[in-house]
Amino acid sequence: MTGMHLAFDLSFTHTEGRWARAGSWVGRTFPDVRMFQEIAVTAERAGIDMLFFGDGSGIPDTWRGSIEPAVEWGVQWPRQDMSPFIAAMSAVTSRIGFGLTYSSTFMHPFYVARLLNSLDHVTGGRIAFNVVASTRSADAANYGFEELLEHGLRYERMEEFIDVCQRLWDSVPPEAIVMDRDSGRFADPALVSPIDHDGDFFRVKGPLSSMPSPQRHPVLVQAGNSPRGIATSAKFADVIFGFGGAVAGQQRHRRMLDEALAAEGRDPASVGILWATQVIVGRTAEEARTRRAEVLEFWSEEAVGAYLSHNAGYDFSGVPERFALGELVAQMQAANSTPAGLVGRLVDEYGVDHQLTRAEFFEHGWRSATGLDHTVCGSPAEIADALEENFAATGSRGGYMFSTPLPTPSGLDDIAELLVPELRRRGALAPSYPGATLRENLRV
Ligand SMILES: Cc1cc2nc3c(=O)[nH]c(=O)nc-3n(C[C@H](O)[C@H](O)[C@H](O)COP(=O)(O)O)c2cc1C
Repeated sequence: MTGMHLAFDLSFTHTEGRWARAGSWVGRTFPDVRMFQEIAVTAERAGIDMLFFGDGSGIPDTWRGSIEPAVEWGVQWPRQDMSPFIAAMSAVTSRIGFGLTYSSTFMHPFYVARLLNSLDHVTGGRIAFNVVASTRSADAANYGFEELLEHGLRYERMEEFIDVCQRLWDSVPPEAIVMDRDSGRFADPALVSPIDHDGDFFRVKGPLSSMPSPQRHPVLVQAGNSPRGIATSAKFADVIFGFGGAVAGQQRHRRMLDEALAAEGRDPASVGILWATQVIVGRTAEEARTRRAEVLEFWSEEAVGAYLSHNAGYDFSGVPERFALGELVAQMQAANSTPAGLVGRLVDEYGVDHQLTRAEFFEHGWRSATGLDHTVCGSPAEIADALEENFAATGSRGGYMFSTPLPTPSGLDDIAELLVPELRRRGALAPSYPGATLRENLRV
């Protein structure tokens, strides 16, 4: 994966108050499919490689054990299954790719492999599958689990899930399709075989009941951040989705991934990381700073608590008036939650012995939930300088998954119209889409 690549993260176009603010669509509201089609056209005009949709099916309910604040303030809720929206977006575009998220912890690989094969047909080879292990108990509860599988088991299941998908995608090769009109012979049965999979988590006979798709295998994206998650990503991922923000953490992720890829016999140069990067771009630095200040007003205190607790899988409402970070980490681990995100970043910055008051913790939380603690904010030239420097410092493979805390479409329009052209003018991006499929365009 050479050169810098760009994706737009559209996981949250309307939540956390974005829908109500100046700069959001007026007269159209989530989930109007025309909204998404317009975004796709704008992003393709800018030459963005991929639109990306993260997912989670549960309404945040970790904070005080209730869905009320998430429902009241629209925190990470509501969310649609984006696969039909992707089909509609692909009809008005021809080059841009689409990343769709499903959980290997809850879904079945036969269903997902078949769905992605169909989406690869509909999009003309522009689909990517972001496979997630899922960290949230609200998601688990929708699929009949009282608690999440243990962390290591989730990754074992993911590896088996992807293995099954890959074998299903290979089970009907293009050369098997004969379609001879004279004889009426459709396909060569000698080339279409069951996979007869009987594993720890799944039993799947196969073969896939579908035609081979343009990419055969959709582009595989994975976002695990722990040592175990990184080891799994090295087995199959074409592209990694990583936490951006702090360069030391990015460099650590890159180093661990390179070692894991080498251990799998894969070339570390071939796998890029798209760094999650929240951006506020203005025509001037001052305009960007004004818009940044507005974001803090979108949120209520309850919304911040609901957001942070959901993402961590840990109820922060009971945080004491004063505590050491190490105590919080130990409590989170005992509750089988991941002290990544806010708590991980605080530990990286201040160390486990650092003492915080509850008020200080929630002040950090506010900036974390809004993403303002790791937002790149400024004029197009300032942001392009920062990205070029960060790209070189993190191995020059992959690129950026942009998101914005601003209302849609204005936040995305500004990235497409101000920042992306600046990067292209500098030669940081390819001048045009090099191919027709997402694999060709990402060079994976
Ligand atoms: C940048 C990034 C984006 C992610 N997006 C999603 C998502 O959309 N849905 C989801 O359920 N999990 C998502 N995750 C969670 C991961 O798939 C994974 O479950 C989580 O990082 C915990 O695994 P780990 O302990 O290996 O990091 C994301 C993680 C990262 C780092």
